[in-house]
Amino acid sequence: FEKKTKVHPASSLKALVTAGPTYELLDPVRFIGNFSTGKMGIALAESLAEKGIEVTLVLGPSKEKVNHPLIKIVNVVSAEEMLQACLKVYNAADITICAAAVADYRPVEKAPEKIKKGSEDSFHLELVKNPDILATLGRMKRENQVLVGFALETNNELEHAQKKLESKKANMMILNSLRKEGAGFGHDTNQVEILQKNKEIISLPLQSKAEIAKSIVDCILSIHKNDA
Ligand code: CTP
Ligand code: CA
Repeated sequence: FEKKTKVHPASSLKALVTAGPTYELLDPVRFIGNFSTGKMGIALAESLAEKGIEVTLVLGPSKEKVNHPLIKIVNVVSAEEMLQACLKVYNAADITICAAAVADYRPVEKAPEKIKKGSEDSFHLELVKNPDILATLGRMKRENQVLVGFALETNNELEHAQKKLESKKANMMILNSLRKEGAGFGHDTNQVEILQKNKEIISLPLQSKAEIAKSIVDCILSIHKNDA
């Protein structure tokens, strides 16, 4: 007979991580997307899993491979699908990290067939705002849940990240600056700042995404302990 080996998590904590881009479809063959690879979010999911924490990884379209017995992957395409997948597990999550690069807008409608090129020289596409997943989860957050977001900025970085920390009711924002050498989309290294409410900003050195993920997870676990 068959004997199933089940991996028992070493921690009683559960985590939810969003990662990757979202694709917002215009028609069956076209979409609005972005250059996110999902690497940072996946590295975070792996660091949490390495601590023995069970992770649900809600992943937008990404080419990256993930294979860890404590990581359950939920593949999604659009922001709306990503939100629905998050809402299913959020209540049970002690730690939630929104690392996905969610499209802020989507086409008002998806054409059922491929859109044909018209005779006009211009084409107008009407967009509607997507739900803000991090802000939605922030509004639902309970006392002992830790919610972490990322802020991608190109100017007035700290000010913008601070505003996002407050408006989205997150416990922590990771500031990602595209201006820095070796940081951001597609790179294997990154340089980030960790912002928390009423706490000093922590500046991490330029490191691999795996090393940064480890530092971020250690920081999250320290506030979860202090909160509980
Ligand atoms: N985010 C989200 N859902 C959205 C947009 C953003 O969950 N629809 C999350 C991202 O995963 C990230 C954080 O919010 O953790 C900040 O994303 P960012 O794009 O920097 O902020 P926005 O609020 O979208 O503001 P803007 O793009 O105008 O700077
Ligand atoms: Ca945005």
